[in-house]
Amino acid sequence: METMRKSVLYSREAIRGRVLELGEEVSSAYEGQNLVVIGVLKGAFIFMADLIRALRIPCRIDFVRLASYGSGTETSGRIELTKDIETDIAGKDVLIVEDIVDTGLTLTYLVENLQARSPRSLKVCAFIDKKLRRKVPFEADFVGFTMDDGFVVGYGLDFDEQGRFLPDVCVLNAEK
Ligand code: IMP
Repeated sequence: METMRKSVLYSREAIRGRVLELGEEVSSAYEGQNLVVIGVLKGAFIFMADLIRALRIPCRIDFVRLASYGSGTETSGRIELTKDIETDIAGKDVLIVEDIVDTGLTLTYLVENLQARSPRSLKVCAFIDKKLRRKVPFEADFVGFTMDDGFVVGYGLDFDEQGRFLPDVCVLNAEK
């Protein structure tokens, strides 16, 4: 990433404001319910930490880790669960928290996998939605930001494990 130029797309202030709004949306949707928030490692860890602290309802948390085999910035479509949840979600209201919906392949796989465990409800909250890049139709229930194209790092998101620590979300621009 040293050879890439970065420009801020969503500042830490903009992120903070949007996450507080999302916290309100999610809290209203799950009032009085048995909410289990499942974060998708590693990319969603910062977003999830901020989101649950913006909730005004209690929740339990758990995590999954998925491996998608591909190279560079593209998902191959071959996805595997490499770390499973430890919670029994049968009869619970489950909210998956993901960093980015891109082709839609990862979340399609995860939703199908978790749906098979009979949750009472299953929804998805994505920090960023790249709506125009879908290879399969997928609609997130809660979305932080929508962007068209480009590759972003920061706020937990990485390029080849770099850039997760950045407090703002930045677009990578290839050096000419
Ligand atoms: P999908 O299966 O193509 O929807 O892949 C989504 C996954 O690709 C996300 O969970 C991210 O890990 C990764 N991803 C897609 N776009 C970006 C990006 O711009 N920055 C960092 N990771 C990304």
